[in-house]
Amino acid sequence: MCGIVGIVGRKNCIKEIISGLYALEYRGYDSSGLALIKNNKFEFSKNIGKISNLEKGVKKNKLSGNIVIAHTRWATHGRPSINNSHPFIKQNCALVHNGIIENYEDLIKYHSINKKNLKSDTDSEVIAEIYNKLLNHFNNPIEAIKSLNKKILGSFSFAFLVLGTKSIYVSRRGSPLVLGLGDDFNSVSSDALGLPDNTKEIIYLEENDIAQINESTISVFDHNSKSIKRERHKFIPKKGFKIKGNYKHFMEKEIFHQPISIEDTILNFADKKRKTVYLPKTNIKFNDFSNIILIACGTAYHSCMVAKYWLEAMTNLNVSIDIASEYRYRKSKISKRSLGVVVSQSGETMDTLKCLKKFKQKKIPTISIVNVLNSSISRLSDFILPTLAGPEIGVASTKAFTSQLSVLALFVLNIQQENGAINKLYFNSIFKIHDSINKILKKNDDYKKIAQTLADTKSIFYIGRGVMYPIALEGALKLKEITYKHCEGYAAGELKHGPLALIEKNIPVIVLAPSDENFLKLLSNIQEVKARGGRIIMITDKDGAKKAKKFCDHIIIIPKTNFFTSPIIYSLPIQLIAYYLAIFIGTDVDQPRNLAKSVTVE
Ligand code: AGP
Repeated sequence: MCGIVGIVGRKNCIKEIISGLYALEYRGYDSSGLALIKNNKFEFSKNIGKISNLEKGVKKNKLSGNIVIAHTRWATHGRPSINNSHPFIKQNCALVHNGIIENYEDLIKYHSINKKNLKSDTDSEVIAEIYNKLLNHFNNPIEAIKSLNKKILGSFSFAFLVLGTKSIYVSRRGSPLVLGLGDDFNSVSSDALGLPDNTKEIIYLEENDIAQINESTISVFDHNSKSIKRERHKFIPKKGFKIKGNYKHFMEKEIFHQPISIEDTILNFADKKRKTVYLPKTNIKFNDFSNIILIACGTAYHSCMVAKYWLEAMTNLNVSIDIASEYRYRKSKISKRSLGVVVSQSGETMDTLKCLKKFKQKKIPTISIVNVLNSSISRLSDFILPTLAGPEIGVASTKAFTSQLSVLALFVLNIQQENGAINKLYFNSIFKIHDSINKILKKNDDYKKIAQTLADTKSIFYIGRGVMYPIALEGALKLKEITYKHCEGYAAGELKHGPLALIEKNIPVIVLAPSDENFLKLLSNIQEVKARGGRIIMITDKDGAKKAKKFCDHIIIIPKTNFFTSPIIYSLPIQLIAYYLAIFIGTDVDQPRNLAKSVTVE
C-alpha cells in the first residue's frame, strides 16, 4: 500500500529518495511522486505506473534538492492518475499521506473548502487544503498539525513540507512512521526498509506523535505538542533484500528460500537433541486458558485455520478463528480465560491491528506471530513469536506462510510440553521438513509441466480434506493473486453441496492428497469429479499414488508427510504451480494488479 519517504540533509538527496521508493515498491502501488523545497518554492514531479517513470521525469526536469518528501500511492479514493497522486501542493505546504480520512466530506463542508480548489478525487488533498489554512492561522507548523489531527477521523501518517522552513513535519495515527537518524541527514519513512542505507539509528513514532525533522535534529511531540523523548534503536540495514540474485522474481527467490527460512524458524524455538521447545520467556501460562482466539487476514488466516486443526487434535483448548475484518465488528463474547493470538507477516495489517486492540480492551493476554519486528502489531502485543522468514518482497506470501505454520506448530508443541506430553513423532518430523522441501524444489519441472496444462483453462479448483483444506484455500488464493485466473479452494466433502455444478469436461481439479486417514474419502470425492468430466491433478505421496493412479490424469509424487508436517510441505507445490502458471501467462508476479503487500487500510 501507500509508502512515504522523506529526507532533510546537507546534500542533494534525490538518489536516496528514489532508492527509498524502490525499497517500498514491494508494498504495491499504482503511482508515485515527490516534492522538494528550492529557493523557498515547491518543485515536484508525479507519474503513474512504475517508479522508473517518476525517475525519468525527475531526471528530465533536473530536479535536485535536500528537503524532499515522496510517496507511492495505492488508490483508495479516486483512480490511479497524476491528479490523484501525491504530493498535494497548496500555497504554503506540500503533503504526502498514507491511510484513509473517513470524515473528509464533513471536513470539506465544515471548513468551507471551495471544491474548485480540489483538483483530485482524494481524501488526502482535503487535508492539504485544511493544513494550509491552519498554517496561516497558527503560523506554527506543529500547532497547526496538532489542531489538524483533532479534526480527523480515520487513520493517517502525514509528511508535510512547509515553505519558510527547512524541515519535514510528520505525524501518525493508526498508520506507521519511522524516523531515521544519519550523520548529515535525517529521514522518515512508513517502513524502515525505505530509509537510506547509511542511517545510524531509528525511532518508531507512537500513536498521535508529531515530529519535526531537520538536517541535524529531530524533535518529537505528543498529541498536545508537548516535547517527548522516544527510544532510539540501532538501524540494521536489510542487506540483500532488494537483490533477486539468480532468480527472475522475488517470489521465486522466496519460494526457493524456504528450506532455510523454515529451518531458521524451527531451530530458533526447538532443540532437536534435547527434544525441547524453547519459546521466548513469557509469563503467559497456557494452562490458565480454556480458549484460544486466532485472528488474521488472507494467507495468514489460512495458517490460523491449520493451527485450529492442530490445537484441537493435540491440546484441550477450545479454538476459535476468524478473519480480522469480520471479527473486529462481531459482538462475540470473549471470556477472561481466553488468549488472543494475531498472525501477520507485515505486522501492519489494519484489520488485524484493530482486533489486537479489541483483545487489549477486553484485557486478555495477547501474542503476535509476526515477520516484521517492531511493526505496529508486534509493539502492541504482550508477547511476540517472530517468524524468521526474512523480508518478504513478493506480494504473494510464500515463505512467510510456511514460517507462520512452523511457529504455530512449535506453539502447539509448547502447549503439549507444558502439559507434560509432547508428541515425539511430530516433534522429530519437523526436523525432516527441510529435506522434503528440497526434494520438491529439485523437481520443480513437474510443476512447470502442470502449470502449462492450466494456461488455457477458465477455472481451476483446489480440494483437500482436514489440514489440506486450508492449503486448498491457500492454493486458490495464490493462483488468483498472481495469475488472475478464477480459482476456488474447497473442502473436498463440500463439493456435492454446490460447487460440483461447475465441474464440466476438462475443468482441472487439483487434489491435495497425503495418504492419511482422509485419503479414502478423498478418493470418493475425486470420483464424483471424474464422473462429471473433470481433470484430476493429484499431489500425493508414493502410497497415495499407488491407490489413486487409475483415477488421476496427472500425479505428482512428493515425500511422505504426517498430520503435522503436511500443511507445510504441501504448501510448496501450490506455490510452484501458481508461480509457473503466472510465468506462462506473463503477469507481473511480484506486484500483481490491484494488490498491496501491506494492507494498512480498513
Ligand atoms: C497473501 O499472498 C496476501 N498477499 C495477503 O492475503 C496477506 O496474507 C494478507 O493481506 C495479510 O497480510 P499480513 O500477513 O501482512 O497481515
